[in-house]
Amino acid sequence: MAKEKQVFFCKECGYEAAKWMGQCPGCKEWNSFSEAPRIVKDVKGSRHSGTGSRLLSEVSKPSKINEVSIAAEDRVVIGIGEFDRVLGGGLVKGSLTLVGGDPGIGKSTLLLQMCRELAAKDVRVLYVSGEESLKQIKMRADRIGEFSDKLLLLSETCLDHVEELLVNGCIYDDSESKAPEVVVIDSIQTIYKEAVDAAPGSVSQVRECTSSILRISKQMGISVFIVGHVTKEGVVAGPRMLEHMVDTVLYFEGDKVAAYRMLRAVKNRFGSTNEVGVFEMKGVGLEEVLNPSEYMLQGRPQDEAGSIVACAMEGTRPIMLEVQALVSHTSFNYPKRTSVGVDPNRMTLLMAVIEKRIGVHMSDYDAYVNVAGGMKINEPSLDLAIVAAILSSYRNRAIDPHMLIFGEVGLVGEVRGVAMAAKRVQEASKMGYTSCVLPKANYDQLEDMPIKCYGIQNIRELAEYL
Ligand code: TYD
Ligand code: MG
Repeated sequence: MAKEKQVFFCKECGYEAAKWMGQCPGCKEWNSFSEAPRIVKDVKGSRHSGTGSRLLSEVSKPSKINEVSIAAEDRVVIGIGEFDRVLGGGLVKGSLTLVGGDPGIGKSTLLLQMCRELAAKDVRVLYVSGEESLKQIKMRADRIGEFSDKLLLLSETCLDHVEELLVNGCIYDDSESKAPEVVVIDSIQTIYKEAVDAAPGSVSQVRECTSSILRISKQMGISVFIVGHVTKEGVVAGPRMLEHMVDTVLYFEGDKVAAYRMLRAVKNRFGSTNEVGVFEMKGVGLEEVLNPSEYMLQGRPQDEAGSIVACAMEGTRPIMLEVQALVSHTSFNYPKRTSVGVDPNRMTLLMAVIEKRIGVHMSDYDAYVNVAGGMKINEPSLDLAIVAAILSSYRNRAIDPHMLIFGEVGLVGEVRGVAMAAKRVQEASKMGYTSCVLPKANYDQLEDMPIKCYGIQNIRELAEYL
């Protein structure tokens, strides 16, 4: 028997200590310490609390770097282009991926679609759901399409049973039992290990379950996807340690009312974290959006004051979108400033810059700024478009609907260069736009200009163009 010992650890970062503390020395969070269960022993008697040191094969010896082979077949291309790209070119064998996102955003749908594609490629897949019954999963599956028998479903919350299945194998179409090659666990907050004396979803369960899954995944070369729910603060519930343990962390996000969804890699040991995949939720599951710019600009009004086309970068991918502003006479003593999709402080700041540097009197006007399509953009390159939209609405004068505007605006009204200007200009040209107003600094560096470009240094120059 292991000696029973009390351990406390931080719910946020996993910092361990022998006594309770008000503030975590690791992440400086207050009141985040909780008591860990007594140390558990598993069947073989090895301790496996935390990530553990015996995760890989029992006898490991050092290898020469040049002798380590990474065969090409170690990656499986799923067949959902946007998903493959975010993963860095397909699914890596034996990798552990965490998929986080708000409830109802489509995590289960996305993973079920992935299972469908893989099963169609003769990959043995096991989908474990701790949230839904087999009937519920089947109902969802019926909306998506036909499935191959290479996909097995399991409704189970006890991880010990799942592990047994992985080790002993499951019966696929032939009678021989084989271990699955890809496993989805939906969700980490609903499963538990019997040996851990805590409720499912608690920090210790989540931690123990993940480390247990990690060990099996690496030992047997099974690729595992874990679904994780997201707390109000927008992080995957459970210790942040979870993110350290897995190879890849994907977030599936989007506005619940807007149909588009974005899959973003925030950590990826096998690829870049700059990639995003764009999907649209339809009646038959998620569909890839191959041209997000076209999607975001659908139904844009032409020749209306207050509507400007801007270009934001999602990782290395340019996405053109519409920034709208409405400036109207205020009926209050204190003018209203409201923004949707952009930081309200940024908007207030830009309005102050307009007032001071262009001399437009804004204090008698209410102003509203909106990014159409429900996207949230936190990028300074949108500044110039916001300024242009506000000015356009204020003067009630429409701007050329085939003009792209981007650039960062500083407090003295200067227009500063932004990253990846050439990509934005190219995207505009690809989308059939004919002109572009951009920072002078970027203009000077552009090598080829597929469309007419105007480099400006100050927002006063912008006011002249409009
Ligand atoms: P779900 O994948 O269950 O989300 P999560 O697992 O992230 O909680 O499904 C999300 C929503 O998508 C659900 O409210 C229903 C909707 N939906 C569709 O609009 N079309 C479809 O084809 C499917 C399967 C779901
Ligand atoms: Mg779900």
